[in-house]
Amino acid sequence: MNVVTVTDRAIVQAADLLRAGKLVAFPTETVYGLGADATNGIAAAKIFQAKGRPRFNPMIAHVADVAAAGRLVVMTELARRLAEAFWPGPLTLVLKRSETCAVADLVSAGLPTLAVRVPSHPVARDLLQAVDSPVAAPSANRSGRISPTRAEHVAEQYADADLAPAMILDAGATDVGLESTVVLVDGDELVLLRPGGVTSDEIAEVAGCSVSRASDPGNRPSAPGMLKSHYAPRAKVRLNAESASGDEAFIMFGPDEPDHDGSHVNISPAGDLREAAANLFAALHDLDAQNVSCIAVSPIPETGLGEAINDRLRRAAAPRVTPRQD
Ligand code: TXA
Ligand code: MG
Repeated sequence: MNVVTVTDRAIVQAADLLRAGKLVAFPTETVYGLGADATNGIAAAKIFQAKGRPRFNPMIAHVADVAAAGRLVVMTELARRLAEAFWPGPLTLVLKRSETCAVADLVSAGLPTLAVRVPSHPVARDLLQAVDSPVAAPSANRSGRISPTRAEHVAEQYADADLAPAMILDAGATDVGLESTVVLVDGDELVLLRPGGVTSDEIAEVAGCSVSRASDPGNRPSAPGMLKSHYAPRAKVRLNAESASGDEAFIMFGPDEPDHDGSHVNISPAGDLREAAANLFAALHDLDAQNVSCIAVSPIPETGLGEAINDRLRRAAAPRVTPRQD
């Protein structure tokens, strides 16, 4: 595996790889992240594929500074105060995506919100400056394994993976070793979605208000799949549809397009699951915006990324009465 000790040249190479849609594992002050260009949906899909994640969990967009964050999300006054106090550092803010947000829908798993953070690790900062684009990066562990705090952990976990990072930037052990604190900023309320490197007391002190736990009674649940705002189309969703009726919209997959007069999108005419993953959320959004009552979806294979695609589709198709556990 391509484990490279950090030098200026290695950072330039890593940035080139990211811009070319490749995956690069890099150190942050918390844990090593598995990065991809966040504006490239196909590259983001590779992260799920490499990690072997069965579900499309939303990811954090890493940026170089507050100004870059402000182009992706709506930075409220409260968010700015937290950013000034804790960035760069192990705090992730979940905020509304801005209208001009260039981050691929897949990165925020179709949610109207996006998690952003400015890491403090000098290598992460240099890399973000060099790429000049937001970098989507979950912890670099493979699904179900522990988060890597050294480059060797990453190399070892991807030794037998179908898809491995094109480069692992090695800067030794990370400082914090524990992931960032994830806080949802919802108007003037703060909800702790994941405890981490910054304590909720520290956050409460700067914010001047309390930080509720996602598990508090009456509060919204922590798992993104259960959040009220979690994207579910307004329209009904009908899966494994070989054809669609005239008043249904149709999400197709693969080269054999069934005849359909109504609205339709083929999320991968080539039948490529990576491309389908990158296009899925946008297709749901676009067809839902056309006020159809039902969106039919062609069968999508359960193999590889298809497992995560079908998981997300089943969630979109499930009854809406009660929140679903993630
Ligand atoms: O320290 C960290 O945060 C590391 C380094 C690499 O930056 N990254 C990391 O990413 O831990 P990940 O993907 O393993 O965890 C991100 C967490 C998940 O629990 C995810 O559900 C939550 O953030 N999250 C991301 N976007 C969200 C959103 N829009 N709404 C709610 N939760 C979100
Ligand atoms: Mg993780």
